[in-house]
Amino acid sequence: MKFPSKVKLVDVGPRDGLQNEKEPVPAEVKIGLVERLQEAGLQEIEVTSFVSPKWVPQMADNAEVMAGIARKPGVRYSVLTPNMKGFEAALASRPDEIVVFGAASEAFSRRNINCSIAESIERFAPVVEAARARGIHVRGAISVALGCPYEGEIAPERVELVARLMKEIGVQHVGVADTIGVGTPLKAQRAMEAALRHFALDDVSGHFHDTYGQALANTLATLQMGIWQYDTSVAGLGGCPFAKGATGNVATEDVVYLLHGLGIETGIDLDKLIDAGKYISDYLKRKPNSRAATAILSKRQG
Ligand code: HMG
Ligand code: MG
Repeated sequence: MKFPSKVKLVDVGPRDGLQNEKEPVPAEVKIGLVERLQEAGLQEIEVTSFVSPKWVPQMADNAEVMAGIARKPGVRYSVLTPNMKGFEAALASRPDEIVVFGAASEAFSRRNINCSIAESIERFAPVVEAARARGIHVRGAISVALGCPYEGEIAPERVELVARLMKEIGVQHVGVADTIGVGTPLKAQRAMEAALRHFALDDVSGHFHDTYGQALANTLATLQMGIWQYDTSVAGLGGCPFAKGATGNVATEDVVYLLHGLGIETGIDLDKLIDAGKYISDYLKRKPNSRAATAILSKRQG
């Protein structure tokens, strides 16, 4: 068993986490969360998305949030851009990275971005080209890679196909996403292997929602393959509005606890990360959805 010596976590809490909240979260609270995450040592933060405010009202304050962040040198700020309209709107916010998001199933592609897989690639192509021409890094997300709420089982070949299509249009990195958290470790490994047929080990990441409590196991299983980049969400926030019943991403706190326990460097200060999770959980009037945060917070109370 060989693990990577360091791991990079992308905290997607401000975007994936908060996009699903029913009540509007003020821009200043989102900015406060991003600032606490960067203070905790996160090197990349997925801040917001430039999508239709009719589809995802919670992200309508995208430009305001991006403008309000006091950027920390060395931190990469990423945003979702599904089409040229979103990309053009995002440009003024100077993202370091943009994310185009496709799916391994036709049904989910339609529900999420209102087009087929082939059409999505056509929409992404000019976005990728324009971003790369400006030196903006391009990540792709492959949703429902381990299972689809509408089509059920997803064969690794579906993941491989979308990875290939993304590679062909110049996407630089792909995230293998378990949108509804149904995957188990061997499935996670198979989906990763599919993505690795078209992308190098350094250009593939895991994005595991924790609906069925499998996300830490899936993380461990893919770490064993040498995968060293993961999307996680502080306090386990989140879910996708277009995937009924899907809960948040695996909590950043839990993954950091796991990694540090394995002797893997993250550059993240777990105590400060717990503070960031408590900040947003207090605002949302709920407990952090993280076992490690719960344990550490109760220990702090003595
Ligand atoms: P559409 O309706 O097919 O787009 O939406 P359209 O080009 O036909 O335009 C219709 C209207 O939307 C027009 O406005 C456009 O201007 C506007 P109108 O003339 O009717 O007033 N529009 C936009 N407005 C703002 N920003 C834009 C934009 N594009 C068009 N970028 C679209 C297509 C993709 C925009 C829509 O389906 C959408 O916004 N979907 C939301 C997708 C989303 O945010 N999903 C959640 C994030 S993905 C996720 O969570 C998964 C991930 O975490 C990985 C995982 O876990 O699987 C990444
Ligand atoms: Mg997600």
